[in-house]
Amino acid sequence: MTINTILELHNVSKVYQMGSMFSRLRITAVDQVSLGVGAGEIFGLAGESGSGKSTLARMILGFEEPSSGMIIHRGKDGKPIIRGKIWRTAGVQAIFQNPFETFNPLRQVERYFFDTIDNFKLASNKADAKSRIDTTLKMVGLNYEAIAGRYPSEFSGGQLQRVSIARSLLNEPSLLIADEPVSMVDASIRMSIMNLFRELVDRLGLGMVYITHDLATAYYVCNRIAIMFKGNIVAMGDVERVLIEPKHPYVRLLRDCIPETDLKKRWTTKVQLAESDTEEYLRSGCKFASRCPQVIEICKHEMPKDIDVEGSLVKCHLLDYSRKGQPIVPSGLHTSTEVG
Ligand SMILES: Nc1ncnc2c1ncn2[C@@H]1O[C@H](COP(=O)(O)OP(=O)(O)O)[C@@H](O)[C@H]1O
Ligand SMILES: [Mg+2]
Repeated sequence: MTINTILELHNVSKVYQMGSMFSRLRITAVDQVSLGVGAGEIFGLAGESGSGKSTLARMILGFEEPSSGMIIHRGKDGKPIIRGKIWRTAGVQAIFQNPFETFNPLRQVERYFFDTIDNFKLASNKADAKSRIDTTLKMVGLNYEAIAGRYPSEFSGGQLQRVSIARSLLNEPSLLIADEPVSMVDASIRMSIMNLFRELVDRLGLGMVYITHDLATAYYVCNRIAIMFKGNIVAMGDVERVLIEPKHPYVRLLRDCIPETDLKKRWTTKVQLAESDTEEYLRSGCKFASRCPQVIEICKHEMPKDIDVEGSLVKCHLLDYSRKGQPIVPSGLHTSTEVG
């Protein structure tokens, strides 16, 4: 990975143990995920509900320990910081889904800014602090006057999300993790916030992980994207290649939900992924096998490898087979009666 890589994940997994001592259920929420995010890049992390996006975000933010694997953050000086105790002050900031939950309704929002200034010792006196707050708020189209003395309920959802973005920028982070940051704001202003992210990432040279189950906004704003399915990344690469020329059957299914004509235009309308079904996670084969229209025999008992297709990653046996020129025999997994 290049020196401009701000975030690196190497084989990161998270396994939750549920139930009693006698009926242990293991849920692999995140399964061997590796990825890199560069400066000036918006990296999309998309997948249906339950695919492991938020768990991954919480590990990157330092809220949860990975069960295995390594997470490395490189600050502006390029020095690697391996995720550990000092992580929270190492320039990684979160932007959450609901700005009304981010701020206490009984507290003036400016208090949060002054707290951050105090915590990180960003100013030597009150005038200094106000000027720093004002400068940061201007980056998101607001200013100190616009927030002074006001409570969260006095803002619209979109405005308050801008306020929370400004607060996350106050200590000059190099990496933003935004988990569904526009899903709670009005559809009409969603794009203006996505445009703001683009502008900030370009201008400040930040890396950003944008987590969503909405492929339309992901296509609109991301440089690269990873599609998650049950904890695995099944496709990853430039957003154009992954979403417009999908090589993985799952991503093709998602694309086929959209009419053929005017594909790029249609992506700007909202596309929801299906809710996750309740299959068990403990299969030895491909996790998508039972839903895959192109399933072959090997998919049922062997986990596919990550295959590099001209710079994009695709986790699928079909690609391996077609590359090696092996014949593809349908498995009959979807037929209910098998003669044996
Ligand atoms: N604290 C937890 N304890 C047990 N299981 C969890 C916990 N957090 C998440 N999970 C499970 O991990 C999987 C991934 O969840 P999550 O990361 O929230 O997915 P997403 O954000 O993509 O919707 C789900 O099956 C979820 O039920
Ligand atoms: Mg989530």
